[in-house]
Amino acid sequence: MTVILKAKPVIESLTTSLTADAAHVTATLGRKPHLTVVLVGDDPASAIYVRNKQRRAEEVGVQSETIRLNADVSQAEVVAKVQQLNADPAVDGIIVQLPLPNQIDADVIINTIADAKDVDGFTLAATGRLWTLPKNSQATVGPCTPLGIMALLDYYGIDVAGKNAVIVGRSNIVGKPMAAMLLNRGATVTIAHSQTTDLKAATQTADIIVAATGRRNLITADMVKPGATIIDVGMNRYVDAAGKKHLTGDVDYANVAPIAGAITPVPGGVGPMTVNMLLKQTIAAAARTAA
Ligand code: GUN
Repeated sequence: MTVILKAKPVIESLTTSLTADAAHVTATLGRKPHLTVVLVGDDPASAIYVRNKQRRAEEVGVQSETIRLNADVSQAEVVAKVQQLNADPAVDGIIVQLPLPNQIDADVIINTIADAKDVDGFTLAATGRLWTLPKNSQATVGPCTPLGIMALLDYYGIDVAGKNAVIVGRSNIVGKPMAAMLLNRGATVTIAHSQTTDLKAATQTADIIVAATGRRNLITADMVKPGATIIDVGMNRYVDAAGKKHLTGDVDYANVAPIAGAITPVPGGVGPMTVNMLLKQTIAAAARTAA
């Protein structure tokens, strides 16, 4: 029987701990932990993520604020906004929603975020720390999607030590930090990507596949070893011939699920974990100020 790695029970258990931790910080600081999201332009997917963040923040007792900037804002203006938030003692965590418009260098903006307020784990300092963690220790600060995947694997008791993990996708948001986290927990890690010449040869030997490419149905049943754990980070929207809208991952779920040992559904798998890790890191950042 394939185990379906649903986020719901993990999130239910996280609700208890996040709510308690946020309440503790609120009692100490005399205010709720505060997350500020900077949203530039009007990317529709980003707008949905930001709305979900706001809703979940309220549920667990985190104050979430969104600063909206016009799509034509200059890089200097975004830098100035982030610097202002860095200096504001009422702000515990800052994220700048990606992607950013072309006139803005995302690296410059990300690295303007103060280390203590970097709840996305995208800065150079956070990246360096992630790659230099002591062996077998658990990353506590880092990019939220791979952290959420680790939390999902831990909740379902999937041990990664000694396993062959193949990550498909080499982004700074998912693929690369995922590699660091799995490696640190004892997996043997391969990162495959769009220039990998024989993707199937790589994935066929994998005990764990993490697909993060944004290409629908990239991972098909013939590429998967029976019993493998399949983590699908894809969020691909498409409209079928009948005009019906769908959200699917990077994995051909209908054909892969029957042979997998465990698989994340889309939606309801990796996606909802990300925002919970963001709130966890925001509460932790606030707790450090309170200490
Ligand atoms: N865009 C897609 N995922 C993320 C994320 O985790 N953080 C930020 N800031 N932007 C994103």
